[in-house]
Amino acid sequence: MSDDIAPDRNLALEAVRATEAAAIAAARFLGGGDERAADQAAVSAMHRAIGKFQVDGTVRIGEGDAGDGKLFVGQKVGTGTGPRADVALVAIEGTSIVARGGYNALSVLAMAEEGGFLTVPDIYMDKIAVGPEVAPEAIELDKSPGENLNAVAECMGVAVSDLQVCLLDRPRHGQLVAAIRETGARIQLIMDGDVNGAVAPGLANSPVDVYMGIGGAPQGVLAAAALRALGGGMQGRLVIRSADDGAKARDAGIEDPDKKLTLEEMAGGHVTLAATGITQGPMLNGVRLAPEGAVTHSMVMRSRTGTFRYIEGHHDFRRSRKD
Ligand code: FBP
Repeated sequence: MSDDIAPDRNLALEAVRATEAAAIAAARFLGGGDERAADQAAVSAMHRAIGKFQVDGTVRIGEGDAGDGKLFVGQKVGTGTGPRADVALVAIEGTSIVARGGYNALSVLAMAEEGGFLTVPDIYMDKIAVGPEVAPEAIELDKSPGENLNAVAECMGVAVSDLQVCLLDRPRHGQLVAAIRETGARIQLIMDGDVNGAVAPGLANSPVDVYMGIGGAPQGVLAAAALRALGGGMQGRLVIRSADDGAKARDAGIEDPDKKLTLEEMAGGHVTLAATGITQGPMLNGVRLAPEGAVTHSMVMRSRTGTFRYIEGHHDFRRSRKD
């Protein structure tokens, strides 16, 4: 990607157009019980928007594999005329949230220079993420939750009992929850949406200090992209539960699937990321739909400058659908 700052700025605005389009499309399916229809609509809307990006882009984290339709991993996107860019996206982060009309669904898209994003298969990843006050070396997936939380508390100058740890509410986290409780740290369980959870420690004013546990690997890369821009630390490791998971990791080009992945290994170079709220959440408002338009709430961030912006988009369908 060019060192000139102007194209990078344009990319930020292009990125948010794509997440806005996907969020508006998804919002029409709110509470309808149909995850697939919501996802297809969001992916199509995002695909149309990305087609206008002035980049020679390649999808590195996407919506399935070649043959699955649109925005698959490896697909070339953009006009092909601008800088080469890696694209990582999730048209709906929380398809089941949208289908049931729940809380905290997002659309997310990140771009980096070619080679910036690690392509990971759609399997699980074990993650630990912290905010900028915590030295990256303080967190270590091979250490116990107690050791990690003590180290985080020390970096933050607080007691372990002051820490709030966020994790997905899943049976697989039973032992982890018990171990965290033993330390005295407080716990916030979320139903879905671990990009949100893992990004939360990086946000100023967030009550979440640490994110822990197993969620989707593609979501891990998107969270790493956001934390590169916000400041913060993260470690991830693919969870290989079967020979099939191992084969998927190898097919994605990962030589050592047991390797602990750093933030930079997952999301390197200059990263631009946009996220738009589909439903209401702690960071973003959900889409407000009206007959002639919609209001969207997004955030845009860039690792080059650390600038973080909220954008409220007022969309007039009578005009915008004509271009
Ligand atoms: P989807 O949008 O694909 O449904 O993902 C929602 C999500 O909660 C992710 O945020 C998370 O990484 C993953 O599901 C966890 O997977 P599982 O529901 O299998 O525990």
